Amino acid sequence: MEKIIALNHKMNLNYGDLKSYINGLKKLDLEVIVFPTAIYAKMFIDSGFKTGLQNVYYHKWGAYTGEISPKQAASIGISYVLIGHSERRDKFHETDEDINNKIRCALMEGLKVILCVGEEANEDYKVVLKKQIHNALEDIQDEIMIAYEPKWAIGSQIIPSNKRIKETINYIKSLFDYDVKVLYGGSVSGENIKTLNEVNVVSGYLIGGGSTNINELKKIEEVVH
Ligand code: 13P
Repeated sequence: MEKIIALNHKMNLNYGDLKSYINGLKKLDLEVIVFPTAIYAKMFIDSGFKTGLQNVYYHKWGAYTGEISPKQAASIGISYVLIGHSERRDKFHETDEDINNKIRCALMEGLKVILCVGEEANEDYKVVLKKQIHNALEDIQDEIMIAYEPKWAIGSQIIPSNKRIKETINYIKSLFDYDVKVLYGGSVSGENIKTLNEVNVVSGYLIGGGSTNINELKKIEEVVH
């Protein structure tokens, strides 16, 4: 099974960086989904990449200054969206109810949803993940994908053991009545990808810091391709 490589640029890269970045990305033999800063999304779409947004709002139109609707996103060729990233939950106070509404609205416009979930280091992962998934997907039947990103592994260069990742992903899968795809995210790098890639239940990776660096992505390509 080919691994899904999702690139979460977060709020990184300048417009002037994009030409060489896109050229570099085109040379890689990787099936990527790019989640650029929203104002750059059209450039990735026009370059032929599967492109997603890092967030959307849950109304189609209206007086919501600064927001982007799933309908608008779909109208320019966006096909994916990340919803519930821990940075959105923690820094922008997104609630489970917001997340449920966003997923519902995104699915209505035909976007593929990657729901991000993850626990703090001192939390019981089963309790947290079950609650996050249950609340996010209340009254939603459509299939989605999950990105499991333990909060303590994001940007820390610390990753869980393979045993722990496998156990957690199997737990997440047990909460669904379909064969849900689960990506792993949190400090994925050219250094640890070889070890990580031994976990066979992982459907792919959601890469943050490493995603804007073509050399890092080359190292990842060598392992997952
Ligand atoms: P890092 O790869 O920088 O740890 O970020 C992970 C992440 O948050 C991807 O969504």
